[in-house]
Amino acid sequence: MTVDDLKHLVRTVPDFPAPGILFRDVTTLIGHGAGFAASIAHLADRARAAGAEAIAGMEARGFIFGAAVAAHMGLGFVPVRKPGKLPVPTIGIDYALEYGRDRLEIDPGAVSAGQRVVLVDDLIATGGTALAAMELLRSAGASVTHALFVIDLPDLHGAARLRDAGLTVDALMH
Ligand code: PRP
Ligand code: ADE
Repeated sequence: MTVDDLKHLVRTVPDFPAPGILFRDVTTLIGHGAGFAASIAHLADRARAAGAEAIAGMEARGFIFGAAVAAHMGLGFVPVRKPGKLPVPTIGIDYALEYGRDRLEIDPGAVSAGQRVVLVDDLIATGGTALAAMELLRSAGASVTHALFVIDLPDLHGAARLRDAGLTVDALMH
């Protein structure tokens, strides 16, 4: 399936989770077997080109795509988690979202010094989540230079923020 075919599998829901937000819902994409498989194959091609040695994904929707990309490539997956979920001492960071605030945490032992870790998430809006994940992984010693998304919402300028922070950004659709 082409990337253009995949775009038609994303459902748009107005006013969720708050008035004025156009929610791009990937549950319809992952519910379509061929569409989900093609999304993972396209993302894995790009992660391979980026020299990925591990894939990191942000809870929760980033786990769906990131873990599948990692397994497709035979690489390990690093979960970037919402607070209080990891059973070991963590490092964490607070960040702003399009519709609220949140916090992400990782196990600093989940990556090794200089390991090339590629970020994968379903969607980039303001870029706050990806920037927070990048900072956390870098402070644990990983080399983070690429971030991959299924969807980029360009009006929210997140990809530009990531590029300003020195990341190479790619998305399957806009
Ligand atoms: C969504 C999405 C990204 C993030 C993008 O996750 O999956 O992780 O928002 O927004 P940003 O670029 O403005 O940071 P959300 O925090 O809603 O959590 P979920 O994956 O648990 O639904
Ligand atoms: N995460 C942040 N903004 C979003 C949006 N507009 N649709 C789906 N997920 C999002």
